[in-house]
Amino acid sequence: MSEAGLNRRHLLTVATSVAGAVGVGFAAVPFLASWKPSARAQALGAPVEVDISKLDAGVMVRVKWRGKPVWILRRDAGMLEALPAVVSELSDPDSDKSEQPDYAKNATRSIRPEVLVVIGNCTHLGCAPIERFDVGAEDLGGDWPGGFFCPCHGSKFDLAGRVYAGVPAPTNLPIPPHRFIGDNLILIGDDTGVSA
Ligand code: FES
Repeated sequence: MSEAGLNRRHLLTVATSVAGAVGVGFAAVPFLASWKPSARAQALGAPVEVDISKLDAGVMVRVKWRGKPVWILRRDAGMLEALPAVVSELSDPDSDKSEQPDYAKNATRSIRPEVLVVIGNCTHLGCAPIERFDVGAEDLGGDWPGGFFCPCHGSKFDLAGRVYAGVPAPTNLPIPPHRFIGDNLILIGDDTGVSA
């Protein structure tokens, strides 16, 4: 082969190699991208940190975790006193049939008695109950001690998310995995190291 022919062949080889490398490069991007969690996946699955330092007693804050509404209520002294008073009216007062981590299967369904962390989906058909902290509300029977009310079909829950007997919702509101990572910092979706 002439020198010109050899040079041309070399050039073609180089050009093919470059094209091949670029091709691999393009092919590699989607492959690598598939291993990196998308922003949406992170939003749906990652633990959520919540600062409750400004949450007053008797007040609730809502956050989203894995697309679900999570409520954090800082119960005041009156709310805590109401918990044992309603036990006889509840369907699952000891949370035997309900969904919660072992460390929240107790009288307050919480790690710290004053801080309730609960998923705000009615266990009947998934509606969003509303907070009804107005003690003595006439539309809820007059002796209402405060809690949550689902307007869809009338299910009632106490201030620990425990369902009242005789309503459509079958179980207590679920408690998500969570832990305190500071005095006023809660991590929702991660309970590493928390025991009952
Ligand atoms: S969805 Fe809440 S009572 Fe039916």
